[in-house]
Amino acid sequence: MLLYSKRIPLMFPVNFLWGAATSAYQIEGDPLAAGAGASIWHQFAHQPGRIANGDTGDIACGHYRRWAEDVALMAELGLTAYRFSVAWGRVLPNGSGAVNQAGLDFYRRLIDALCERGITPMLTLYHWDLPQALQERGGWQHPDSPAWFADYAEVLIRAVDDRVPLWITLNEPWVVTVPGHLEGIHAPGLQNRAATPRVAHHLLLAHAAAVTVYRALGRHQIGLAVNLEPQFPASASAADQTAARRRDAFINRWFLDPLLLGSYPPELQEIFGADWPNFPANELARIHGIPDFIGVNYYSRGLVRADATEQTLGARRIKPQNAPCTTMGWEIYPAGLTETLLGLRERYGEVPLYITENGAAFIDADLQAGVINDAARVNYLETHLRAAQMALAQGVDLRGYFVWSLFDNFEWAEGYAQRFGMIHIDSHHGKRTFKRSAHWYREFIQRGGF
Ligand code: NOJ
Repeated sequence: MLLYSKRIPLMFPVNFLWGAATSAYQIEGDPLAAGAGASIWHQFAHQPGRIANGDTGDIACGHYRRWAEDVALMAELGLTAYRFSVAWGRVLPNGSGAVNQAGLDFYRRLIDALCERGITPMLTLYHWDLPQALQERGGWQHPDSPAWFADYAEVLIRAVDDRVPLWITLNEPWVVTVPGHLEGIHAPGLQNRAATPRVAHHLLLAHAAAVTVYRALGRHQIGLAVNLEPQFPASASAADQTAARRRDAFINRWFLDPLLLGSYPPELQEIFGADWPNFPANELARIHGIPDFIGVNYYSRGLVRADATEQTLGARRIKPQNAPCTTMGWEIYPAGLTETLLGLRERYGEVPLYITENGAAFIDADLQAGVINDAARVNYLETHLRAAQMALAQGVDLRGYFVWSLFDNFEWAEGYAQRFGMIHIDSHHGKRTFKRSAHWYREFIQRGGF
């Protein structure tokens, strides 16, 4: 195992992208404005008991109204790239069919403003907000869902590919699959074990279908973003080792193996038993294809214990004793980022990589004399950037880093209680204030390294 060291004084490559990331439902607010169709997250957040404190994305960061001010803040921060997502239902209110020009124009204006400021847009097509109209037709369980997604992708590619050089099809398809369809804690809130493997399969087919459309029409690069966390057995026991291997297949390899190697990890059949379908070879062949890049969302590692009471996996993640954690309860483990980046190259070969998300939720200090001193976040970002640099120093083709997140925002089932932002947003007036981490990141970007 490679340990993270504070002593390597390398700079990042000159053309390395320095970004921050957000997603539509988490920051925009006004989810039904100007003819937009409701999404599954709008629907879900309005069901009592689903989200902490009954929070919703109705207002969020108010970015839908304040986008121009927000782009100015990004420029002030010195970002050279910005990762955001498009709300499918703003563009196609029914999920397919008629295009809502007003929705498309919102993103056109945003992209133009980014380009004017010299900020490279990285556009995510799907960050979990499926149009509710498509959910009512079966959502990701429906065999036509990949075609719905490809049609939506085509509308966007035709509209903005001239100004958007980096495209992401899906954000964290694992989270769509497991919390959304197996655990029921994310929209659409289903607990349907039998449907879960097909949902994942349709997401992969959707990714592949959008890439096919992109290759025919697009002029730049397209990839996908996955949540990865190295898994370690909690003890040397054979049971814990098996549990860690299964959790690794379940979280880290479920999507990347079929995509890059052409087949699902065999552990998935073990995990799902009779619920694992026999997927046709021609569909697996369609999925198998090298993306232009992989986006890595890295937050933590998993320490895994065998646990027969965990019905599907037979394993659970435990909290290591005395380890520093964020308020999400996730262990702070920077070395795992180096391991993840090196591990990707080892398993899948040379594929260009971006860290499309990395960041942490903490209880920040109060606003004092106009400053929030979020020292813990600065430390988290600094140690993880060191870890990224360790991978670069070993020749990994890493091309950019995006902090999650630009703003404190709607953290899904956790509502607004969990704060990941470098920029604080006042809940009454929406006033934006740079935290110390934002100032720190700006200086880091200016220096181009440590
Ligand atoms: C992953 C997701 O892509 C993002 O939406 C979420 O807010 C962060 N991780 C933090 O949990």
